[in-house]
Amino acid sequence: MSNFKSSTVYQIYIKSFCDSNGDGIGDLNGIRSKLTYLKDLGIDYVWVTPFFRSPMNDNGYDVADYYDVNPMFGTMADCEAMIREAKKLGIGFMFDMVFNHTSTDHEWFRKALAGDPEYMDYYIFRDGVDGHAPTNWESKFGGNAWEYVPSLDKWYLHLFDVSQADLNWENPRVREELKQVIRFWKDKGVSGFRFDVVNLISKPALFEDDYEGDGRRFYTDGRHVHEFLRELVADTGIGDMVTVGEMSSTSLDNCIRYTRPEDEELSMCFSFHHLKVDYKDGDKWALMKPDLGKLRDLFRTWQEEMEKAGGWNALFWCNHDQPRAVSRFGDDRAYWKESAKMLAVFTHLMRGTPYIYQGEEIGMTNAGFTDIGQYRDVESTNYYRILLEKGLSHSEALEILGQRSRDNGRTPMQWTAGDQAGFTSAQPWLGIPENYRVINAEAEEKDPDSILHFYRSLVQLRKEQPVIAEGGIRFLDTGSDRVFAYERTLEGQVLTVVCSFSTDTEEVSAQIADRLGRGTLLISNYKKPDRQQGSDGTLRPYEAAAVWS
Ligand code: GLC
Ligand code: CA
Repeated sequence: MSNFKSSTVYQIYIKSFCDSNGDGIGDLNGIRSKLTYLKDLGIDYVWVTPFFRSPMNDNGYDVADYYDVNPMFGTMADCEAMIREAKKLGIGFMFDMVFNHTSTDHEWFRKALAGDPEYMDYYIFRDGVDGHAPTNWESKFGGNAWEYVPSLDKWYLHLFDVSQADLNWENPRVREELKQVIRFWKDKGVSGFRFDVVNLISKPALFEDDYEGDGRRFYTDGRHVHEFLRELVADTGIGDMVTVGEMSSTSLDNCIRYTRPEDEELSMCFSFHHLKVDYKDGDKWALMKPDLGKLRDLFRTWQEEMEKAGGWNALFWCNHDQPRAVSRFGDDRAYWKESAKMLAVFTHLMRGTPYIYQGEEIGMTNAGFTDIGQYRDVESTNYYRILLEKGLSHSEALEILGQRSRDNGRTPMQWTAGDQAGFTSAQPWLGIPENYRVINAEAEEKDPDSILHFYRSLVQLRKEQPVIAEGGIRFLDTGSDRVFAYERTLEGQVLTVVCSFSTDTEEVSAQIADRLGRGTLLISNYKKPDRQQGSDGTLRPYEAAAVWS
């Protein structure tokens, strides 16, 4: 059994991590050159985003060959060396399995397009209705989710980009093919897997129009998804490896079933409800300040209910699909350092396995792009067009992308204050925010009070304190919607964690003030407090503290 409860995972978005050969694109040898950085951070696993052969319409999430390394990222020998060298340092790799769909460049899809019935059944082809798409479902990247193929007079389903065709998991041959992929990478020595949008794999028996939504209710956590996952895990023998499923628009009940050990599906899942609390009326492309009350209630419910049912959460604020948390839930100017550390305390001391997304550990911010020409992401450029079609002005649309685009989280890793932030010697594939002169790993390495050092402490605490890895959790009332608190308990030990999400001083309830005032401090983001934290009933801006009771 992997020790995922006391572990921390680091996510690498390979294209933006480190470029070893001067073409402006991060690569496998770039990762190899930074293994000691990761070792020093103390993390146990690295989830690396897809580097398999791909036309890169969705930056590798459109896989054309699951068994081959994209030459842009290196060779199979580089990949094997990376796995081997990391293992020597006690770091295991988790590879990213994109199994809901393949690229339309995949050999299977090419054969399907040529009319081979065997391979057409690998995908979801349907007849149109009166010359229209089979259903009104929408693609998650905008537009209808079906594409017409004139030579076949049929439509294929693509829940994402038109170049990402959904696989037909009802076909046992497809399931066998995907198991082979797992076995192949398992034999190469990886320690685990991340499964991309894996709760979308089981489609309904009948395809019908959705008059209430975009179609997702028909295929999300679909009818056979648990059965398919159990089969995949059992037949590939990965039950004792670390596995995480990315669950799109999922439910708590399903995540309990995905992760309860007795169900033998996955170690943990990513869910995203907490990252939609700033979507106005549920619309990602309509801006709103985060609803903090809702954010707290979501964490409370997911944390407490998962514990009761014996499930396990992946804990995270950031990934390659999200804007930077410090710009979104913190204050990336006046309280940059304090708020970045507070956000880290909040997730790293909860019940679950924390994920650090590259650059988060140094407080990287949103990109600050002001021109559509700076964006690369297919979702962003699609939605820019859609927003303009809806009647928004260029500057309104750019304002929205500035906060919501996935490219905010994809700018190159800021290693140094030197040229191109030390990421590459060439022109980087995506622009680098100006603040790299101040916000970079080299500078933070030298500063003991940096965000980087703070993350190291948190990673260490999870290993040293069983109450963090194994303890129960209960949320506490704080008397303020902007202050969140929970307690972790194990065998008589009680650790209270209090985090302010406010730019102002906040008053807290007597109970919280009392715990802060009397407890022994474990960690805080304010240096050497001149008074015992919170004992006067207030918390400073973005203050975070964990105290023993
Ligand atoms: C996941 C990935 C995202 C990708 C999508 C389609 O959400 O994280 O980057 O675009 O799946 O594969
Ligand atoms: Ca490169």
